[in-house]
Amino acid sequence: MKKVTVSSLLAKKAAGEKITSLTAYDASFAKLFDEQGVDAILIGDSLGMVLQGQDDTLNVTVDDIAYHTRAVRRGTQRAFVLADMPFMSYASAQDAYKNAATLMAAGASMVKVEGGAWLCDTISGLVERSVPVCGHLGLTPQSVHVLGGFKVQGRDAQKAQQLIDDARALEAAGIQLLVLECVPTSLAKTITEQLSIPVIGIGAGNVTDGQILVMHDMLGVSANYMPKFSKNYLAETGDLRAAVSCYIEQVQSGEFPGQEHSFE
Ligand code: KIV
Repeated sequence: MKKVTVSSLLAKKAAGEKITSLTAYDASFAKLFDEQGVDAILIGDSLGMVLQGQDDTLNVTVDDIAYHTRAVRRGTQRAFVLADMPFMSYASAQDAYKNAATLMAAGASMVKVEGGAWLCDTISGLVERSVPVCGHLGLTPQSVHVLGGFKVQGRDAQKAQQLIDDARALEAAGIQLLVLECVPTSLAKTITEQLSIPVIGIGAGNVTDGQILVMHDMLGVSANYMPKFSKNYLAETGDLRAAVSCYIEQVQSGEFPGQEHSFE
């Protein structure tokens, strides 16, 4: 069993092999996903919505993410473990250093931050201090009130160019992975082609280097709600382990996400 590392994720991009990723928040699901062969597990601040029942991610704390990161780490042997930096936990570089240290000590191998070029100094400061960083662009849920809702981003030429510029700036600042959420497929393709680091999409079409889904969405747990970009793999397979294997196979083959899960 070879552990997934930042280098093996990079090698996957170079080889044109898709990266598979899911969120998890506890040891049992992390173990199941790990055993099925998911490459990366994110302790997302989506936990505010899917675990805590809040309307958005803004109330999630560093202690919340640290608690769930410790649990996920205990359940994970092979997969790469990333933890979200919650809202306002990286508002200043000093906050970012202190809070990233807490999440790395809890078991994360990388931290994820939402936002564009304004974050470059903070990112390079983290990287200089040996904290690997993942960026997150497009629909950034921590900015839901600025964006006016959970909406597809980058639909007009100016906003699309802004996202391309942000992605390049974040890469130059030192991110080693980028999550791209809810953008048109053509824009996701351009960004994926222009970056040498892996781009993991969610609602960004099947053109990125890999995919991530919130586990509650892909298992159909969120009653009466299924985002357009997700798919209920438990309903399709009738079994938890089969659901995860099916997701992995469909991402690797490029079958998921289909056009019906993507945006133009
Ligand atoms: O918080 C989260 O789960 C995320 C994913 C949707 C990428 O950021």
